[in-house]
Amino acid sequence: MTHDQQPQHHTPPTTSPAAGKPVAVVTGASAGIGEATARGLAEAGFHVVLGARRLDRCAELAAEIGGSAHRLDVTDAESVDAFLAEVPTCRVLVNNAGGARGLERVAESDEDNWRWMWETNVLGTLRMTRSLLPRLIDSGDGHVVTVTSIAALEAYDNGSGYTSAKHAQAVLHRTLRGEHLGDPVRFTEICPGMVETEFSLVRFEGDAARADAVYQGLTPLTAQDVAEAIVFAVTRPSHVNIDQIVLKPRDQHSATRAHRRS
Ligand SMILES: NC(=O)c1ccc[n+]([C@@H]2O[C@H](COP(=O)([O-])OP(=O)(O)OC[C@H]3O[C@@H](n4cnc5c(N)ncnc54)[C@H](OP(=O)(O)O)[C@@H]3O)[C@@H](O)[C@H]2O)c1
Repeated sequence: MTHDQQPQHHTPPTTSPAAGKPVAVVTGASAGIGEATARGLAEAGFHVVLGARRLDRCAELAAEIGGSAHRLDVTDAESVDAFLAEVPTCRVLVNNAGGARGLERVAESDEDNWRWMWETNVLGTLRMTRSLLPRLIDSGDGHVVTVTSIAALEAYDNGSGYTSAKHAQAVLHRTLRGEHLGDPVRFTEICPGMVETEFSLVRFEGDAARADAVYQGLTPLTAQDVAEAIVFAVTRPSHVNIDQIVLKPRDQHSATRAHRRS
């Protein structure tokens, strides 16, 4: 097959019967990066199926962008099955649902926080991807985008619950790239640094002052910045696999080193 004969990004074969558009599933679409990605993919011509636990937020956005919304808790196998029963065809899966809880040394680690982070980031990605892979492959041009983090590339003090979960999620994702070599499905890992979303509010259990301090004195990435990278990867011609995108604020060197002006 020549490049000219490859399925192109703007004419993907799998469509939603209702919308006549290719289908993209976005997990964690009620806030932050997922919300911005849902908007971006809708603008790129996808029928977006939004999932998160806060269905009201997803439904509002779905109405705005012409998508659909269903409640989804990626930590609950029954919820994943019920959600996916509403998705007969799928061309793109964005594994975005996730986050961090707590910031403590291994010596003081909280098992409930670890369990939450592993269930959400790792097992959530496993459940969604395993279930949707046959539909993604059947589309003839499937694409799995997984939002890991620079925490999947580095270890840092007090962050081991999150860094270990993100490393595990990343290894799961990268393994799929090899296991499905030869299948019509692409795999892209997105590794953001600091992005100003509800992420730190969740990490610090609603402590807004502590969350705000994370972004003080520098210009963090926005959810939109990350969404644009995702949409870029997804809209390349189908013979192009963007394996990994690492994006950080200019002011951020690594997970532990940033330039702050105040
Ligand atoms: N912000 C950053 O600095 C940063 C950096 C690197 C990577 N990331 C990663 O980017 C992804 C998105 O984070 P964000 O920054 O956009 O944070 P956010 O604003 O807190 O959004 C997190 C999203 O995940 C959803 N979610 C959480 N638990 C879920 C569950 N059990 N089932 C379904 N959805 C669930 C939330 O929805 P509900 O609460 O409504 O379920 C929400 O929509 C995460 O994987 C995070 O680890 C973030």
